[in-house]
Amino acid sequence: MSEPSLPSEALVKRAAELDAADELAPRRELFVLDDDSVYLDGNSLGALPRHVPERVQDVITRQWGELRIRSWTEGGWWVAPERIGDRIAPLVGAAPGRVVVGDSTSVNVFKAVVAAARIADEGRDEILVDAATFPSDGYIAESAARMTGRRLVPVAVGELPGALGPRTAAALVNHVDFRTGRLHDLPGITAALHDAGALAIWDVCHSAGALPVGLDAHEVDLAIGCTYKYLNGGPGSPAFLYVAERHQEAFDSPLPGWTSHADPFGMTPDYTAADGATRGRVGTPDILSMLALEAALDVWEGVSLDVLRAKSLALTDFFLRCVEAYAPAGRVASLTPAAHAERGSQVALRCAEAPAVMAELIARGVVGDLRRPDVLRFGFTPLYVGFRDAERAARVLGDVLRDVS
Ligand SMILES: Cc1ncc(COP(=O)(O)O)c(C=O)c1O
Repeated sequence: MSEPSLPSEALVKRAAELDAADELAPRRELFVLDDDSVYLDGNSLGALPRHVPERVQDVITRQWGELRIRSWTEGGWWVAPERIGDRIAPLVGAAPGRVVVGDSTSVNVFKAVVAAARIADEGRDEILVDAATFPSDGYIAESAARMTGRRLVPVAVGELPGALGPRTAAALVNHVDFRTGRLHDLPGITAALHDAGALAIWDVCHSAGALPVGLDAHEVDLAIGCTYKYLNGGPGSPAFLYVAERHQEAFDSPLPGWTSHADPFGMTPDYTAADGATRGRVGTPDILSMLALEAALDVWEGVSLDVLRAKSLALTDFFLRCVEAYAPAGRVASLTPAAHAERGSQVALRCAEAPAVMAELIARGVVGDLRRPDVLRFGFTPLYVGFRDAERAARVLGDVLRDVS
């Protein structure tokens, strides 16, 4: 291992100025993070907010240990999926009553795609899917299409408007591409789908908590997202499902479990769906994870999504500038669009030696992740990553690239 390179004075000075002007900088103190490493994997697993262990401890010892069954009613466990959905709603631009929390993202993709197919006219026999989708969405959409007598058609997002027609029932699109960090045009694509008479289903896993999403404002039909990335809900924390108000009545869940029943404790053999987003529920909510998520959402109190977005773009701009300065020429190439309108909150760098480079970066305290075979991913969570972190990560990357060949 060679001597670490000296920091560029100009970049260190600029990082300090940007950190000093950053109104979100104090939020970092709300999280458990190490001073001697840089955590750039919040787009996979968000960091732990400091107050969560104590709150989870209360859920276990008092609510479960002492109140036991009474917690379902007196402690508000039963309505947690809707209550926490309403906490997430403003972060994705939804009014109360449109978001419900529960199950994994994959399960919610299934509910959303089948429900969309059941809402669409029967003659519309195609469901489109973003060709670069997160694989789980593609696998499940294929199964959902098969089950509802439709054909799944993978289409590159850029070509989606041209692929729409009278046969299109719906399209499932990722708001931010998990590999490249490209942000897709949610308002434009949703409008194009509507013009074609089709429904828009968005996977907002990589945008919820990273940038404004605007589900209601852009008239999205259905959306799903996870809570363990930028929402910091913890490993395997439950996902969420958004159902636009105009579709709630027609939302016909393929998993109509008893907790989505209008009268769940009536225990009747026949099914009557509850009103509203509750229709998206299935079985008993996973209370421990769900209440850890609820506690984690406290860190959003008073955060402006516009300020968050501005910081995220400034961070990724600055990181790219530092990479340009520190990385040996030609060793990495950014896959993340330079245009702000097309960028999420991560930077993906193509690098021929990516597996060895990421392993060495992690060993030197810069934690990003690898998407095989050749992509280095760095997630920038605006609530706890600062500009000095970005400078340091790029400098260590430069050193690692010189050492790994
Ligand atoms: C964009 C996207 N969609 C879907 C999923 C699948 O989520 P889950 O494992 O919660 O089902 C992920 C997981 O990382 C994802 O990034």
